[in-house]
Amino acid sequence: MFLDSYCPNSSALCNQISIILPNLSIFPNKMSLLNKIALITGASSGIGLATARLFAKEGAIVAATGRNQMALDSLVSEINASGGQAKAFVGDVANDADVKKVVESTVQEFGGLHILVNNAGVLKGGATDAVDMENFDFNMSVNARGVFCFLHHAIPHLKTSGGNASVVNVSSVNGMQSFGGCVSYCASKAACDMITRCASVDLAPYGIRVNSVNPGVVLTELQKRGGLTDEAYKGFVKRSMEVTHPLSEALGRCAQPEEVAECILFLSSEKSSYVTGTNLTVDGGRRNAGMR
Ligand SMILES: NC(=O)c1ccc[n+]([C@@H]2O[C@H](COP(=O)([O-])OP(=O)(O)OC[C@H]3O[C@@H](n4cnc5c(N)ncnc54)[C@H](OP(=O)(O)O)[C@@H]3O)[C@@H](O)[C@H]2O)c1
Repeated sequence: MFLDSYCPNSSALCNQISIILPNLSIFPNKMSLLNKIALITGASSGIGLATARLFAKEGAIVAATGRNQMALDSLVSEINASGGQAKAFVGDVANDADVKKVVESTVQEFGGLHILVNNAGVLKGGATDAVDMENFDFNMSVNARGVFCFLHHAIPHLKTSGGNASVVNVSSVNGMQSFGGCVSYCASKAACDMITRCASVDLAPYGIRVNSVNPGVVLTELQKRGGLTDEAYKGFVKRSMEVTHPLSEALGRCAQPEEVAECILFLSSEKSSYVTGTNLTVDGGRRNAGMR
C-alpha cells in the first residue's frame, strides 16, 4: 500500500530491482530511506507522527517513542499493516534511564541505528517576570536536555552505522528569535540549536550529520497541551494567518505537520549529504516578515 501510494506505476518494481542489483544506477531506488533504522521521539502526535508515517513510506524501519502507548501502538499497527516495519518503545524524554532503554531496545530489536529524529517537545509559556523555576525546568528538560540525552546515548550506535548517519532535531523559530511571553521555551530551543551546531562539528569526522528544522506555527496539539484554551488557540492561529500582523507567517497560513516532516526527511536522507550544522527555518517566511 505504501509503495502504491508513493508511485503507483513503477515504485515496487524499481525497489525490487535495486535490491537485487544495488549498483545498477539506471534503476535508482525510489525509496530514500530504504532499510534505514530511524528512531523518532514524540512519534505519538503531530510532527513526529507525520514523520513516522512518511519515513515508513520511504522504506525506513521505524522505532517510535513517546509516552502515549495507545497512540504509538496505533501508529505501529498502521505501518505494519501497510507493509512497513515499526515498533513502539514507550519512554519519557526527561528520564535518563528511559532514554537509555529506548535507544538500547531499538538497537537490540533492529540491529543498529542510522537516523535519530529528536522531535518530542513541550511548550509552557510565560513572561520572564512571571515564570518560576518549574516552568523553566519543564521546557528545558524535554526540549534541550532530552535532545542531548538521546543524542548522547545514540552516538555510539550512529558511529558504527556505516559513516552516513543523520540526526535531525526539531527546534523552532523561537530558538532563533526572541518572542515575549515564552522565555523558557525560547531558551530551550536556542539551546537545541546550539547543541545541533556544536554536535555537527564534533561528529562530522564520523560521517554523522546533525541538523535542525525550525518551524513556525504548525497545526498540532502543542499549544493547547501547554495550557492555551480552545478560544485562545483560535486567536493565536488567526493572528498567525493575518499577513499584516508582525507575528504572522508571511505565506498567510500555518503549516501542516506533513510539511515539516518532508523537511525532516530531506535532512535525514542522502539528498542532503553535504548539509550539516544547519538550522533550517520552515516557517512560511515568518522570521523575515516579523522583522518589519
Ligand atoms: N506546533 C508548532 O507550532 C511547533 C512550532 C515549532 C516547533 N514545534 C516543535 O515540534 C515538536 C513536535 O511538536 P508538535 O507540534 O508535533 O506537538 P504535539 O502534537 O504536542 O507532539 C509533541 C510530542 O512530544 C512528545 N512528548 C512531549 N513530552 C514528552 C516527554 N516528556 N517524553 C516523551 N515524549 C514527550 C509527545 O508524546 P507523548 O504525549 O506520547 O509523551 C508528542 O508525541 C516539538 O519539539 C515542538 O517544540 C512545534
